[in-house]
Amino acid sequence: MNYHDLKIVHIFLAFLTIAMSSALFHGAKGKSKQIIFGVSTLLLIVTGFVVMGRFGIKHAPPYPLWINVKLGLWLVLTIATPVVTKRFPEKAPRLFWPWLLIALIATCMAVYKPM
Ligand code: HEM
Repeated sequence: MNYHDLKIVHIFLAFLTIAMSSALFHGAKGKSKQIIFGVSTLLLIVTGFVVMGRFGIKHAPPYPLWINVKLGLWLVLTIATPVVTKRFPEKAPRLFWPWLLIALIATCMAVYKPM
């Protein structure tokens, strides 16, 4: 798969992860939605690492700052989404806009690559 194909897949998985988070925040039921969310977050980081390789960035730390920020944001999305929807379902919809902000920051990191 060439660099552009990979990046398209990565961006689609970012959209899917945010869309599934929003569905779960707003009470979407069923194991299948949780599984789709889980698989999309896993494939999002896998495609991120594969695209990184195309930049000659080693897969072992230390990573550039922009990758560390994206990894941190990915961890927040991946851990907080199931925890909040399970433990605080009444508060979960409040994460809609913060999650979109996370996606925006992750995109800015990829486009501007500060440090
Ligand atoms: C928080 C979840 C994430 C979101 C929303 C996200 C979003 C994006 C977007 C929209 C792009 C395309 C930017 C462009 O057009 O140049 C991108 C590119 C990229 N992302 Fe992610 N990403 C996420 C997580 C990650 C992770 C965890 C990694 C690394 C392990 C990663 C590595 C990359 C790389 C290497 C590129 C290519 C940059 C380029 O081509 O210039 N991303 N990401």
